[in-house]
Amino acid sequence: MQISPLNDAIGARVDGVDLAAGFDDETFAAIHQAWLDRCVLLFRRQKLTPAQLVAFAARFGPLEPPPGSEKDLRSDAGADEARDMWIISNVVENGKAIGALGYGEAEWHSDMTYLNVPPTASVLYGHEVPAMGANTWFANMYAAWEQMPQDLRSAVENAQALHNSSYTSAGELRKGMDAVTDVRDAPGAVHPIVITHPENGRQALFLGRRTNAYIKGMTVADSETMLDRLWDYCVADRFSYSHQWQPGDVLIWDNRSTLHRRDAFDPEARRILWRCQIKGTALPAANAA
Ligand SMILES: [Fe+2]
Repeated sequence: MQISPLNDAIGARVDGVDLAAGFDDETFAAIHQAWLDRCVLLFRRQKLTPAQLVAFAARFGPLEPPPGSEKDLRSDAGADEARDMWIISNVVENGKAIGALGYGEAEWHSDMTYLNVPPTASVLYGHEVPAMGANTWFANMYAAWEQMPQDLRSAVENAQALHNSSYTSAGELRKGMDAVTDVRDAPGAVHPIVITHPENGRQALFLGRRTNAYIKGMTVADSETMLDRLWDYCVADRFSYSHQWQPGDVLIWDNRSTLHRRDAFDPEARRILWRCQIKGTALPAANAA
């Protein structure tokens, strides 16, 4: 097995591992450490069944349903052994979307941070991917925190933010939700802006997503100004990596230290990703460490 950085900012590529065949505990320990250190891992040219993808994801912890799972978008992979796998796709069959998120852009976010205990990680497998577009981007929130200018650090190091649950990362209002008219009253969860990673003790900026975010205790105007500053800063190129998909790619990212987004792509192109999500654990504030 060889592990090499994807770029200077974030991510590592793991070669010499066949995820379908599985691996021993020693190999997994090295993979797990590289994932904690580099936030995102890429495995290329994998050939997986739904059950094999589920088995790989489950090495990282118990699985749970991802956002949008109430639509039961499990396509032909809905067999029992794949009950913890869902579909991300723009493909429509017989008038029905076979997966979530369509073909539009998805804004920078961490998954489901509008819950008190957000997921630990997400795994994506490129079952069918377009030749161009639909890149998935990742940004390193350890680096963003570590390199943040001191004045900005001081302004947010003990702050908490409300993470709104009303919209998907593709900007759609979720089923049963009302449009947000005042960010202070929006439904969601409150998290520290700087968390201590529960597995390695490192501090990371933890912003969730920009839309309808609110920093507790501030006026809405001050919160908006501060959030714009934070977001302009933290998703700069020097913290990020843009992934161009190939069929058979497997990506797993640490949802606690990583932001991600997706480029829009040609609606006529077919894109089918399989997705698993690993259940979370509580997130301590940095100053509680
Ligand atoms: Fe996401």
